[in-house]
Amino acid sequence: MKKLLSLFLAIAMAVSLAACGAAGQDSSPPSQSGAVSQQMPETPDTGEETSPPEAESAGILVAYFSWADNAVLADDVDAVTSPSVVPPGNVQQLAGWVQEETGGDLFAIRVTDPYPSDWDACLERANEERGNDARPELTERVENLEQYGTVFLGYPNWWYGVPMALLTFLEENDLSGKDVYLFCSHGTGGLARSVEIITEAAPEANISESIFDCYEEEAASSEADVKAWVNALGFEGGETMENTQTERQIAVQSDRGTVVYQLNGSAAADALLAQLPLTVEVEDYSTNEKIFYPPQALDTTDVPLAEGGAGVLAYYAPWGDVVMFYDSFGANGSLYELGEVVSGEELISGMSGTVTVEAAQ
Ligand SMILES: Cc1cc2nc3c(=O)[nH]c(=O)nc-3n(C[C@H](O)[C@H](O)[C@H](O)COP(=O)(O)O)c2cc1C
Repeated sequence: MKKLLSLFLAIAMAVSLAACGAAGQDSSPPSQSGAVSQQMPETPDTGEETSPPEAESAGILVAYFSWADNAVLADDVDAVTSPSVVPPGNVQQLAGWVQEETGGDLFAIRVTDPYPSDWDACLERANEERGNDARPELTERVENLEQYGTVFLGYPNWWYGVPMALLTFLEENDLSGKDVYLFCSHGTGGLARSVEIITEAAPEANISESIFDCYEEEAASSEADVKAWVNALGFEGGETMENTQTERQIAVQSDRGTVVYQLNGSAAADALLAQLPLTVEVEDYSTNEKIFYPPQALDTTDVPLAEGGAGVLAYYAPWGDVVMFYDSFGANGSLYELGEVVSGEELISGMSGTVTVEAAQ
């Protein structure tokens, strides 16, 4: 059965070049090239409501789907007849290298009802789902999606397209306004219609034409290729080279020196940035905080609560003060996280008097 289905897939799908590598449309099978739509979404008008906060968020998400972590592994699973079901899955491996190179947050797309680990049975169910235009239920959504401005999205080619769970993911997690980089592992069918399907499902996402795709048998040996692709996009070692790490950073300058914070992608951090530059008085509070009051209250909608210890920058909503922690603290339902210290942490406890707060250069 597997051989029959494989043969069917192989014949039905246009044969693409097997080599791994970054590709644009030219890596799609010739029969698909006219159909693949890679048009970038129109830049929205600059009306207030069309400038989503996501576009300014610095975080990187690496989301992926792989059969291996979406299957119930039977004890007797045959690694020869069902090779890619044995962890790590092909896309899972690619995602791991993207994560290592970008320092992003890894998110495995998982269905609540896993697929069979038998190749034929999995093909059959995937094909049924495709025929029914199904949206398999997922175990979870991405938390605080607004903190991510960049999303690397990985998937295997399933039935000339994408696993239907990828569409559930795109419907539950709105990637509008975000920079999206696709990576895919596949058999002889190449990318097939996958890019077109994803573009239709996320029409407002900025989907890059630079796509990494990789033949299934070469996935395990493509670490260098994946990392080279990520670097060529401008990411290296957990940072965006072109942003040189100063995007969304603020400098708090006192006569003792400068403390630099990396702000998160939250609405509260946006509201603080919008008020800069500031000249404010730093005050002592308790035995672990230095605080200052921005002139205007910060928007705490969907802002994560502060956790951690020394070095955290937070906002205490009832008083409207920004808190620079230099020692551990307890969580509080009104204490929201704005960011974390990047340098100068040792100066915080000695800070006093008038300071300036401005965007880091
Ligand atoms: C249900 C199913 C359908 C597939 N359909 C195709 C296909 O249409 N074209 C293709 O080239 N490969 C197809 N493949 C092969 C996978 O794309 C390929 O093995 C990929 O490397 C698997 O990645 P993973 O291990 O992360 O799941 C299919 C695999 C499965 C399990």
